[in-house]
Amino acid sequence: RYPVICIDGPSGAGKGTVTWRLAQVLGYQLLDSGALYRIVGLKAFEAGLITTDASQPIDESAVLALTKSLKIAFVPNNESGRVDIIVNGQAVGDQVRNETVGGYASQIAVFPKVREALLTLQQDMATRSGLVADGRDMGTVVFPDADVKVYLTASAEARAERRVTQLVNAGQAADFDSILATIKERDDRDENRSTAPSKPAADALLLDSSMLDADAVYEQVKRHCQE
Ligand code: CDP
Repeated sequence: RYPVICIDGPSGAGKGTVTWRLAQVLGYQLLDSGALYRIVGLKAFEAGLITTDASQPIDESAVLALTKSLKIAFVPNNESGRVDIIVNGQAVGDQVRNETVGGYASQIAVFPKVREALLTLQQDMATRSGLVADGRDMGTVVFPDADVKVYLTASAEARAERRVTQLVNAGQAADFDSILATIKERDDRDENRSTAPSKPAADALLLDSSMLDADAVYEQVKRHCQE
């Protein structure tokens, strides 16, 4: 088996940046497991299985059937160095990358059978090359015997602050209080679900990035990989 590095943690802790840099430097593939849940969330919304009212119950078996009907493939893109996600023959672009779809993702991510349906696809990625896996349950469920596990956290306030900066830099409106509330709501759902809750594996390095910039996080994770 090829080496696997797991970077788990809540939204906005900086997993994406560190995962990307590690994959580049080591020449490993990158598994963005959140994108899988985002795709299912978006498709479920498009199919009318999720509404904008998060308190509405969702039909688990319908979401499961939909998940199983999707042909999802990860295709390494040598030009961008990224792994493109192809769903039913079409590349999934940035349309899954917004907070609304993040919310849909966390709503369908509570379903054990949906998670199970996505498991082999994720595990198969480690049979082809070294892998840096980004998610919530990489170190606990998907790759329990990974070589390196990191759980990257930061206070909800620090994560909301970063999100505000990102949005403002992108020329978009950003309201700190509503962003903070959304982050807390998603954390709560991800940490308290019964299957594969977001939590550090027993053998994970816990790293709090509240007071660290992206370079400092990268350096600490890299050092941990070398230990
Ligand atoms: O980028 P961000 O951390 O905001 O989100 P993401 O990693 O794309 O994940 C979106 C949602 O998918 C999370 O809030 C989780 O509910 C779910 N997810 C999960 O349950 N397990 C994973 N391994 C990855 C994501």
